[in-house]
Parts: sequence; C-alpha cells; structure tokens
Amino acid sequence: MTTTTGQRGEPEASPPAPLISVRDLSVTYDVARTGKRLIAIEGVDLDVHEGEFVTVLGPSGCGKTTFMNVVAGLVKPSTGTVLVDGSPVTGPGPDRAVVFQDYALLPWRTVFDNVKFGLEMQKGLKGEGWRDRVQEAIEMVGLAGFESSYPRELSGGMQQRVGLARAFVAEPRILLMDEPLGAVDALTREVMRDEIDKLIQKTGKTVLFITHSIEEAILLGDRIVVFKSHPGAIKEVIETGLERPRSERSVQHDPRFLELRDHLWEALQGEATAAAVSK
Ligand SMILES: Nc1ncnc2c1ncn2[C@@H]1O[C@H](COP(=O)(O)OP(=O)(O)OP(=O)(O)O)[C@@H](O)[C@H]1O
Ligand SMILES: [Mg+2]
Repeated sequence: MTTTTGQRGEPEASPPAPLISVRDLSVTYDVARTGKRLIAIEGVDLDVHEGEFVTVLGPSGCGKTTFMNVVAGLVKPSTGTVLVDGSPVTGPGPDRAVVFQDYALLPWRTVFDNVKFGLEMQKGLKGEGWRDRVQEAIEMVGLAGFESSYPRELSGGMQQRVGLARAFVAEPRILLMDEPLGAVDALTREVMRDEIDKLIQKTGKTVLFITHSIEEAILLGDRIVVFKSHPGAIKEVIETGLERPRSERSVQHDPRFLELRDHLWEALQGEATAAAVSK
C-alpha cells in the first residue's frame, strides 16, 4: 500500500478525537462507618473511540462499577478528568445511558412505562412521536405483547430486556452496561449476548460493557480492558482482533480466541490470588 500524504509536505490526517477520554482518574470513598478512606481506582487512563465496543474484566471489588459510574456522571472523580465528546462530565446526560446489573426497574410501572422512563429521564416527552419510540424500543428487545405487564410478572431475562429498551429508547451515543447478563441463566445469557451484539453492530453505539465472563468479553469486545485490584487500576488493554460476526461456535477453535482466553484466565487468576492474599 502506498500513500502520498505527508510526502508532499501536506499535513497527515489526524485521527478522530476519542468520544470518551479518561485521564489519571482516581476515586476515593470516605467510608463513614469505619472513618477510613478507600482508594477504589487510581491512575486510570483510557480512550474510547466512537463505535467501539470495549469490554471490562477484573476481579470483584477492583473498581469496575466505580469507573463506569464516573463515566455515567453518577460518581465524581477525586482526581483526574473524564471527557465525553471533548466536554468534562459533570453529571448524567442524554448522550449516555446505563444498564444496571440488577435491572433497576420501577416495580409499580408497566413495561411500557418503565421504558418511557428512559425518555423522561433523558429528553423528556416533548413533541410528537414519543409513544412510537417507546413501542419501537420494546419491539427491538423482543417484548412486544408485554407492554402492560409489571416487572414481577416477567422472568429475569425479560426484565433485563426492559432495562435494555429503557437504555436504547433515548438513543444515547454511549451505552454503559454493568454486568447486564450477570443475573440471567446460561442459555438466556448466550441468546441475549448475541442479541446485544447484533443491536450494537446495527446501531453503531459506543459501548463500555462490564462482565465477569472471559468468553463474553472476547466475543463482544473490540478491545478488552483488564482491571487489577488494590487499588483498582488498568492492568492491560487487549485488541481482540477477531472477525465479526462472532459466535461461540464460530470462534471456539480459532487460535486467536484460545490464545486470548488462556491469557485472560492467567491474568485474572493472578489477580484473584493477589486479592485473596491481601485480605
Ligand atoms: N459508595 C461506596 N462507598 C464506599 N465504598 C465503596 C462504594 N462503592 C464502592 N465502594 C468500594 O470500592 C471498591 C470498588 O467497588 P466497585 O463496586 O467499583 O467494584 P467492582 O469491580 O464493580 O466489583 P464487582 O465485580 O463485585 O461488582 C470496593 O472495595 C467497594 O467496597
Ligand atoms: Mg460492580
């Protein structure tokens, strides 16, 4: 491949600015009960570009949720900066939506009204067409027919779909997903993982996705961020480099998949051992 750019003294095209830019981020919690301060994360640097799917792996308590909450605007940095599209994050905004592990649905609202809540929180219900948007989001996650159901009448997987629809309805640029499949059974998890993958590839969203599953991190991510604990920090960032679409079946004999899986197992096992020793 040849290129003339630069050879004639023209400026090289600069790479696009990252959509999320995290620099030297630390979060310290004051634990009132013990009167101690706890460094949850320290010195985190990460750039995420538009359209990237970044998965986050790490031992329990290493600060993954804290990190995501800072990007969401729900937790303030103790030091460092988080920029989204060049502007500092000062709180939640319509450009970012969060999918929580425990669904966080409103039990007294129907499926339709829970998804509608995603619009109320972000952009409000001004103008025409909000009903259609809520309905579209419900259909997108396969819950047509359940609009009038209450969360208690749904399975865990269905409740998580409501959480996804609520996040998608306001059409955020960035989806922040904290173990969204952690509480569903293995089969549902596999089905939903593939559905999320398809939705993201179709809509071109930028995603930060926390998981405890190594396979999930590899199957979904363009890059995998591995956290370490004590204090929480980024241990390494790995490009997956696997072709899409990926399925468990299509990649299970791929040498790159096996290499990544072995590497991540070792990295996380080392972290889990370190965490146990330091307790
Ligand atoms: N609001 C809080 N106040 C005090 N300490 C907190 C608070 N939230 C989190 N922590 C502490 O910060 C550390 C990181 O917690 P965090 O929830 O970010 O970890 P995590 O990597 O998401 O863990 P898990 O994988 O178990 O969800 C933990 O030691 C936790 O006890
Ligand atoms: Mg967490």
